[in-house]
Amino acid sequence: MHAIGIDIGGTKIAGAVVDEFGAIVRSERVPTPAGDPQLLEDAVVAMIESLSHDGPAAAVGVAAAGFIDAAQSTVYYAPNIHWRNEPFREKLEARVGTTVVVDNDANAAGWAEFRFGAGRLVSDMVMLTIGTGVGGAIVAGDRLFRGGFGAGAELGHMRLVPGGIACGCGQHGCLEQYGSGRALLRMANEIADAGGIGQALAQAREERGALDGTIVGGLIEQEDPGAVAALRQLGHWLGEASASLSAVLDPQRFVFGGGVAVAGELLLGPIREAYLQHLPARGYHPEPDFVIAELVNDAGVVGAADLARVWVEEHA
Ligand code: BGC
Ligand code: NA
Ligand code: ZN
Repeated sequence: MHAIGIDIGGTKIAGAVVDEFGAIVRSERVPTPAGDPQLLEDAVVAMIESLSHDGPAAAVGVAAAGFIDAAQSTVYYAPNIHWRNEPFREKLEARVGTTVVVDNDANAAGWAEFRFGAGRLVSDMVMLTIGTGVGGAIVAGDRLFRGGFGAGAELGHMRLVPGGIACGCGQHGCLEQYGSGRALLRMANEIADAGGIGQALAQAREERGALDGTIVGGLIEQEDPGAVAALRQLGHWLGEASASLSAVLDPQRFVFGGGVAVAGELLLGPIREAYLQHLPARGYHPEPDFVIAELVNDAGVVGAADLARVWVEEHA
């Protein structure tokens, strides 16, 4: 039976009809409406209706960038969207007439990688998604870890720097402020300000008004020293955080996804280096693999659809 997966991102909403093997049968995407959560809800409803044209799906899985409750219904809090105790599942079910299951976006992506992508061959994996925020997913002993209240695996909000940069979660010094796409832009701007290897970044900033992900990504692709240095800083923080995660979870594999992960080995190199430097029991602890996500932009929709199918099976 097919299920629908919807992935609400900072810039776009992606949706797909997905079969039980994780293959996409049909897909759509629209820009995320800015600001008003009501417009966001309307856009999600319109997409579910449009994807249901060829017949109703078994269930709809919605991946959202926030802390989700154990009933997979309510978004407790979203650092980068204005959701506070948002009963998203209830609202959507009332409008679309199908079972809706709400999941954390990174949990959905991590689950998709575990079932159908880069995590297929391991029992324990950690995924970090590097986008507007830093998302986390934990698979431990072949199961997706959710925590006691559902809101576990918020790996982007581990404290990395005491008294560090303020975060959208209300705390300071979270990994998200040092390992996200936004953090990369901040680092690129600092390198541009400093001159020297920052020349090309400074020039692009002057020509285009401001640096954005496309500009910095393009310079990374050309291996511009300033842009690569910013990426190295980002990788170092992600590697340091991964070392702590190893002490807690001991995964066989770390998977990195999200927009910034297209940098591939240029990102993984510094991550591995910092990981080995900060690893407790270094030199004696077995070394996990560090890989880039395989499902790239589809992980969220594929995982959300599969988690919705699992939910329906478990509650049948
Ligand atoms: C949110 C997470 C989300 C991540 C990636 C973080 O700021 O707290 O719930 O998974 O961003 O979107
Ligand atoms: Na998560
Ligand atoms: Zn935070």
